[in-house]
Amino acid sequence: MAGPRHNRMLPPQKAEHPVKTFKRLMGYLGRRAGLLIPVALFVLLSSGAQIAGTGFLRVLIDRHLTPLLQGPDQAVFRGFAKALAAMMSLYLAGSLCTWLYHRIMLNLSAGMLYKLRTETFDHMEGLSIRFFDKHTHGELMSRYTNDIDAVRQMMSNGIPNFISSMVTVISVFVMMLLYSWQLTLIVAAMLLVMLRVATAIGSRSGPCFAQQQQSLGKLNGYIEELIEGQRVVKVFCHERESEKAFDRLNEEMRQAATRANVLANILMPIMGNLSHVLYAIVAIAGGVLAVGGSLSLGTVVTFLQYTRSFSHPITHISQQMNGVLSALAGAERIFKLMDEPLEEDEGYVTLAKDEAGRLLWRHPHKEEGSVTFAPVQGNVVFDDVTFGYDPGKVVLDGISLYARPGQKIAFVGSTGAGKTTITNLINRFYDVPEGKIRYDGIDINKICKADLRRSMAMVLQDTHLFTDTVRENIRYGKLEATDEEVEEAARLSGAHGFIQRLPQGYDTVLCADGANLSQGQRQLLAIARAAVADPPVLILDEATSSIDTRTEALVERGMDQLMEGRTVFVIAHRLSTVRNADAIMVLEKGVIIERGSHDDLIAQKGKYYQLYTGAFELS
Ligand SMILES: Nc1ncnc2c1ncn2[C@@H]1O[C@H](COP(=O)(O)OP(=O)(O)OP(=O)(O)O)[C@@H](O)[C@H]1O
Ligand SMILES: [Mg+2]
Repeated sequence: MAGPRHNRMLPPQKAEHPVKTFKRLMGYLGRRAGLLIPVALFVLLSSGAQIAGTGFLRVLIDRHLTPLLQGPDQAVFRGFAKALAAMMSLYLAGSLCTWLYHRIMLNLSAGMLYKLRTETFDHMEGLSIRFFDKHTHGELMSRYTNDIDAVRQMMSNGIPNFISSMVTVISVFVMMLLYSWQLTLIVAAMLLVMLRVATAIGSRSGPCFAQQQQSLGKLNGYIEELIEGQRVVKVFCHERESEKAFDRLNEEMRQAATRANVLANILMPIMGNLSHVLYAIVAIAGGVLAVGGSLSLGTVVTFLQYTRSFSHPITHISQQMNGVLSALAGAERIFKLMDEPLEEDEGYVTLAKDEAGRLLWRHPHKEEGSVTFAPVQGNVVFDDVTFGYDPGKVVLDGISLYARPGQKIAFVGSTGAGKTTITNLINRFYDVPEGKIRYDGIDINKICKADLRRSMAMVLQDTHLFTDTVRENIRYGKLEATDEEVEEAARLSGAHGFIQRLPQGYDTVLCADGANLSQGQRQLLAIARAAVADPPVLILDEATSSIDTRTEALVERGMDQLMEGRTVFVIAHRLSTVRNADAIMVLEKGVIIERGSHDDLIAQKGKYYQLYTGAFELS
């Protein structure tokens, strides 16, 4: 568990196909992609205004300030004021343009992220259980948090800033060339030095940063695991050991962070100082040229200003580019999730209802072009089913069994024998490669998955409750159930009593996965949820295993009522639940080794007899 979790903390990787990913991402702008034109325009205008505004300095100094220094002159002064006003309006217009393109990009990116999130989530809902087996929740979560956030950053800041930096650098460079090639030469030479320093430090701090991220990943993974396992830590008094392990990781982190940041922290001041040096050199050289008469004072001042606005974006361009690339890597990971093949379903038999509300199988026959209807009865047959989660590792081996409508089939056997796996196949969480499972005579692969699952209710081995009221959690079994139906189902499953004792009864809000309930209470709710669905087939996976004996008696009564008239598959570790089953299957390593009624099996004196006489608990 800890391994994959660390991955999301590792340094963001570069995208493999940045251009392709970028294009696909742009597809999410849809019809609004046209808005990119005004964005480009405003970026150009804002950079243009910035540069032109600076260019005004020359006019101000050479045409107005220098003559004014010679003596007061009304006309010159008026011109000076006008030029000042024009310069100010230019800067204002520039700011307006900057605001505008950021604003448009913000809208664009919000819309894009909305679409991206919706599509990712919808797609994820259609993925098979097999997919979720292979990906931890932390890994999937980071698609919605880290990766989406990186795309947001890129869209609302990264790209506009990168483009505007590029535009500024290029046009400032052109302006510099126009003003004075000699000074530009000095700037270019100095710039080369600065870039060399930056890459030298960058190449050394890069690996240190990767190491820092790795240490951070380890540290966070450890903290996460310990928070989750806090009870186990306390039970085994492992606080001291955990602290020691934590200290070790923390120290590793401190060292890595120091190494990485010492270098990185030097970079900025060095670059800052170098740009001051550049400024000074240009000022001296410019001064010399001005005194020599080959440049005007205004040109030198303006040039100096350009030097300022040049070195700032150039030190940021590579950083912005990295940001964009790692956001594209995030987008690529999101797209990878979206490209996961959906859970296949070639089923065409669907559920229908007759006038009396009874369930029917609607079976279209393509060749004859006709449709037949057959009542849903709950007749399940396994015919030599062999299955494994991973190829080459057989979990179920040649399972054959049948359940007539209304029968109760119990599975017993040691842990890992394959009991839960059998139920996973009935509702097609996994498809069966070999052998057949028939439901009312229909191969279940022909039944549409959603309808198949609708026709049966399952109480899973690990119950899951949602952050909502008790009532809504039960209603999850059948969304259109009325409040009365919900309460009726709760009564049937024996949950009504404890629900009434909750502070707000049925309106009590359960917190994360029902942490404010006991294990048994959670299971009672899960049973009530199945009861409200009122299906012809019921699958109970160890539903009573954590209910105390007194409650068990209560639940048993309810369960008997619940099971009445339905086909039931029940996996129980307690013999009391198994004893009155119509048939008991004893499973061992994926094979049914004994089958029969309780009395038959006891008379056989085999594994079941051993289990029954050896221990009350079957596992
Ligand atoms: N999602 C999965 N991926 C791969 N292997 C799995 C998966 N689920 C279960 N297995 C393996 O299949 C075998 C049968 O597991 P299953 O959950 O059916 O056992 P079980 O009889 O329900 O046990 P228990 O009584 O403990 O619930 C085990 O060896 C288990 O390791
Ligand atoms: Mg199980």
